[in-house]
Amino acid sequence: MKIKTFAIVAFAALSMGLASAASADGAALYTSKACASCHGADAKTSILPVYPKLAGQNAEYLLEQLKDIRDGKRTNGQAAVMKPIVASLTDDEAKELADYLAGLK
Ligand code: HEC
Repeated sequence: MKIKTFAIVAFAALSMGLASAASADGAALYTSKACASCHGADAKTSILPVYPKLAGQNAEYLLEQLKDIRDGKRTNGQAAVMKPIVASLTDDEAKELADYLAGLK
């Protein structure tokens, strides 16, 4: 009984460790870059209807949009309000964010 409980706790701790290792940077960036202030903490409760939901979107698509808005290639709609926020994002950071957002439910 005790051994079984230990195994379950150890497994839970291990899975949590792995999950956070995979998404820690993206999650931290999402908070530190204030993405949540427009797109919502859960990335699907945006503050205005014209601000897109991001959670669960394809990573490849998100990455391209992030780079295009950053590089001024995407200027449609409300993209201008986001441009200054992502202006200093590196390609690696953009990928971390895209992977993190794609992994959200
Ligand atoms: C000031 C508000 C604001 C902030 C802060 C902001 N965004 Fe946005 N974001 C927008 C708006 C508005 C759009 C839609 C642009 C348009 O109308 O085409 C958008 C679009 C996007 C898109 C494209 C989505 C799609 O479906 O094409 C992605 C990805 C994205 N934001 C990610 C982020 C990330 C990651 C951050 C933080 C680094 C961030 N945004 C910060 C307002 C914001």
